[in-house]
Amino acid sequence: MEPEHDWVELGLVRELSKRELQQVTARRTRIALTYRDGRFTAISGACNHAGGPLGDGKLVGDYVECPWHYWKFHHETGFGEPGFEEDRVPTYPLKVDGDRVFVDLAQATARGKKPHPLHPLARKPKREDGPVRVVGISTTVMTQDHPRFSTSESLLEEALRHAVESGYEARLIRLRDLAFRPCEGFYSKSARACTWPCSITQMDPNDQLDQVYEALVHWADVFLVATPIRWGAASSLYFKMVERMNCVQNQETIAGRHLLKNKAAGFIITGGQDNVQGTAGQLLGFFAELGVQFPQFPYIAHSRGWSAEDMENNMRIVAESEALREGARALVERCAEMAALMVRGTIAERDLVRGGRKAYRPPAGES
Ligand code: FES
Repeated sequence: MEPEHDWVELGLVRELSKRELQQVTARRTRIALTYRDGRFTAISGACNHAGGPLGDGKLVGDYVECPWHYWKFHHETGFGEPGFEEDRVPTYPLKVDGDRVFVDLAQATARGKKPHPLHPLARKPKREDGPVRVVGISTTVMTQDHPRFSTSESLLEEALRHAVESGYEARLIRLRDLAFRPCEGFYSKSARACTWPCSITQMDPNDQLDQVYEALVHWADVFLVATPIRWGAASSLYFKMVERMNCVQNQETIAGRHLLKNKAAGFIITGGQDNVQGTAGQLLGFFAELGVQFPQFPYIAHSRGWSAEDMENNMRIVAESEALREGARALVERCAEMAALMVRGTIAERDLVRGGRKAYRPPAGES
């Protein structure tokens, strides 16, 4: 029997031969078209990983490299790179007729997906039985081998000590001890290029932000975040962490998946100078958007105001203040009680409807 054909015109040879690699569409089929040594080849323009536009990537040797997370597929055979040959994308026959290029959509080869090992963070979040669990995250920056007293971290340590004495489990993460890359803007390529687990975490086994993701998504019921005030805002390490947490928020928006269910957060904010409320507002806004709950009075703070320039005294005052330590203990209790309410299931769970602030859904046809 004659094979079926479905030839669709892609365009003029003189136009299509101007670029070594390009993304084209034939009806609704996306195609990565390569032109090399006077010859066209075509593979699917949809990457096996998360659907990235392969034709918008680049040619690396004989492979088309996806622009989203750099998976590679042979430009002629569609096979994945060595070791992942079975992970292949369809190839399409082409013909040049006169001055035009045509693709045969009926004769595509099959797509083959070889499952890549799942990242451990990708497992479904499931709260294990046990007492309320508190993770403290210190965002203070300091010289590693010349440690100094941190007012926010000392109060965080007090809160965690109290949590343990109260029968909770507690864990401290100092962001400065972790080697992790800043967010590199995968979301800016496409919402779908910002994956869970984080694209960087999946690609870079040396990146240590997985410890934060593991604690927040899979382990803790309570997050206590401690930060100094820097130029009226939280510390630079805090922002470095939250930019990387875009992948958690993005799951709510693009996948209807709420990774931080039944979690409570509280904050410890200290500054030699001021803007406690502005800093607290930023922290609250971010964690609210991740679907995290807050206890009544969700932060404690200390600042001596705009005119205070005597930082030595600021450290001494915090170190000696029983009132602040008491405040730290009370904060962790409030957070743990709020988390316990949710963990016991007395707050009804609902299906996620456009979580985060993106409640607006554009009408069909409008993007
Ligand atoms: S590598 Fe192509 S979508 Fe991730």
